[in-house]
Amino acid sequence: MPTSFRFSNAGFNRFATVTRRLVTISQKQTSIMNLPPIPLVDLATQSQNIRDEVLQRMAEVINAGRYILGQEVAEFEGEFAAYCQVSHAIGVANGTDALHLALRALEIGPGDEVITVGNSFAATAFAIAYTGATTVFVDIDPVTYNIDPELVEQAITDKTRAIIPVHLYGQPAPMVEIMEIARRHQLFVVEDCAQSHGAEIDGRRCGSFGDFGCFSFYPGKNLGAFGDGGAIVTDKPELAEKVHLLRNYGQKVKNRHDLLGYNCRLDTLQACVLLTKMKHIESWTEQRRQVAAWYAEALADTDLELPQATPGMRHVYHLYVVRHPERDRLLKHLAERGIYGGVHYPNPLFRAAPFADSVTFPLELPICSRYANEILSLPMYPEMTQQDVERVAQAVREFSLVEAIER
Ligand SMILES: Cc1ncc(COP(=O)(O)O)c(C=O)c1O
Repeated sequence: MPTSFRFSNAGFNRFATVTRRLVTISQKQTSIMNLPPIPLVDLATQSQNIRDEVLQRMAEVINAGRYILGQEVAEFEGEFAAYCQVSHAIGVANGTDALHLALRALEIGPGDEVITVGNSFAATAFAIAYTGATTVFVDIDPVTYNIDPELVEQAITDKTRAIIPVHLYGQPAPMVEIMEIARRHQLFVVEDCAQSHGAEIDGRRCGSFGDFGCFSFYPGKNLGAFGDGGAIVTDKPELAEKVHLLRNYGQKVKNRHDLLGYNCRLDTLQACVLLTKMKHIESWTEQRRQVAAWYAEALADTDLELPQATPGMRHVYHLYVVRHPERDRLLKHLAERGIYGGVHYPNPLFRAAPFADSVTFPLELPICSRYANEILSLPMYPEMTQQDVERVAQAVREFSLVEAIER
């Protein structure tokens, strides 16, 4: 018998193991094909559960015809301020406006520099650009994906006026360190809380550290409206007063315009949705944290880099972001099995056309740049079951095996 047809024992065993695994995979794949898809977020299921109460509240608004700054907006503002552990919340039209109005209230403008991270959603830096100030993008901590306080300190110049830390993906940014830097350099701090409703550092809520906390209620957020919405929270009465004017044409009294304001009001019908959802935000947040715990267990033996929650911080898992060097192929593999991931965010903002004049510190932000090619967001929503999580993990393991065989 020619030697090329002979298997060594070790070779045969390896061949048998791989074949057995492939048969198991193809059997599982056949059954997976019949399963319902797992979306990145599932807004419909959650909406069904609160639909009747929302409609009841909306009917009252419609019957009374009070659509603009109705009493539901003030009621929601009171509840949301208490939730954020601050004295004031001002409802606005969206999270981008929240950031923009916060910077306007601090009178930031041309000639000023504002420091933020290079891996956030576009709106964070857009809000800075709207004021005419220069955006200074700094790199991130490689473990938490959040702003690196040491880089912030190094990036400060005599033009720096404010820092915008972003509590990205639901993990609080290092606010104690940031506030200490701000105090030493007399800088304002505007927290971007669009992804961090209910997140905490040692029991203190995100949004309550800085001069302002800015929230988005975009439908997919942890607290989401049935359309756009946002809020600014603060403990400073004089700043709250200014934002009240800014969101409504600079008017305290109708037709008296005390400053150049905008039309950025939170819609009363959206306040109805948010008031209803406030009753559930804590249980939904705990469910997200449970889903994250299931993921951590189920994915522990895979080659994904998993999110690391910082001790003492309450991560609220707006997104469950992992890393893999073959990110795009993994996303495709998952989608072929009815599992839909996403990328937050694939194109580093500091290279986008509107930021041609921005500053990066250090040059080209090496961690942000590398992670933009490696990060992917796995499905994450409060209604996900442990079986769903197990299905995602199984598909990830299968990907690693197929990759190993093809290598
Ligand atoms: C980090 C971050 N900042 C700001 C925003 C802007 O919020 P909005 O879409 O409500 O304007 C978002 C959300 O989209 C966000 O994720």
